[in-house]
Amino acid sequence: MDKLISNKGSTIQSAVPESYILPPERRPGVVPPCKTIPVIDLQGLDQDPADLIQQIIKASQEYGLFQLTNHGVSEELMQDVLVVGKEFFDLPMKEKERFYSEDPYQNCRLKSSVNYDKEKVHFWRDSFRHPCHPLEDYIHEWPQNPARYREVFGSYSIEVRKLGLLLLDLICEGLGLEYGYFGGELSQGLSISINHYPLCPDPSLVLGLPKHGDPYLLTLLNQGHVAGLQVLKDEQWLAVEPLPNAFVVNINYMLQIISNGKLKSADHRVVPSSDAARTTVVTFISPYKDSLIEPAKSLLVNKSSPPLYKSFRFIDFLRPYVTEGTDVEKDPLERFMV
Ligand code: OGA
Ligand code: NI
Repeated sequence: MDKLISNKGSTIQSAVPESYILPPERRPGVVPPCKTIPVIDLQGLDQDPADLIQQIIKASQEYGLFQLTNHGVSEELMQDVLVVGKEFFDLPMKEKERFYSEDPYQNCRLKSSVNYDKEKVHFWRDSFRHPCHPLEDYIHEWPQNPARYREVFGSYSIEVRKLGLLLLDLICEGLGLEYGYFGGELSQGLSISINHYPLCPDPSLVLGLPKHGDPYLLTLLNQGHVAGLQVLKDEQWLAVEPLPNAFVVNINYMLQIISNGKLKSADHRVVPSSDAARTTVVTFISPYKDSLIEPAKSLLVNKSSPPLYKSFRFIDFLRPYVTEGTDVEKDPLERFMV
């Protein structure tokens, strides 16, 4: 529990502890807000679905990431999860203690940084994470305090899953895959992570999360109103501006592989803020552990598009993430390239 940055209280208010200070070459530098990151209005689905699908595919090829507005998840629910998520982190230590675990296989887990015991430098983040689907299998393990936790996160997980599956159907159509390609076991996993980045006295020295790609299928991030997310494009970091009630959607490694490299997983990182604590709610849609992952056969029909990746079980990709956390120095796709 003393590893949690949110429990360090006043000791982190005046200076960044040494164990969080990155070597100069890994510090984030100054990154201005970026105006070119695609913003896609899902209402366009009613007027011109073909155009909307093209926008999604283009953004997923060029940036691996886009913002999504008018997505149908209510403003109230978008706000409620941020409020209740923050309330969870504001609970007294005694209440949170039962969820704190160093066991990466524990379902409902509160932890700090990425791989606290192995990493050289710690990251300015705590996270609370649990599976969500099917809800009845997991909800009884979720917190009962804050009192609204189960109700709010239960509704939210159902709504965001629906939205994520809709996006996957649109991506499926845009890639020219057979209808329902992502509808089965490839998208049956669902988990939510509440990330908490406490106020930081000097964000130029630290990172909230190091550069990484998400190892699943698709991520839908509700980042609230405090900036901090950055995406890497053409070797440049771009700051993803918070848009009220929007989702930041990013393509994950498994979607890059299934699309045979047509869609790009977006490398991203997080910087904390010296103005405000930042709480975000991240929803990951993922395959079953045993699902077979491989480039979709229908994308490989002619010789000009040979498979770039091997076939493998999802768990074989995921295992090092579970046991080690994200290894920031290596390219995790390398092992799976043909
Ligand atoms: C993550 C992530 C971004 C954020 O949890 O994988 O990239 O802004 N989070 O919290
Ligand atoms: Ni991420």
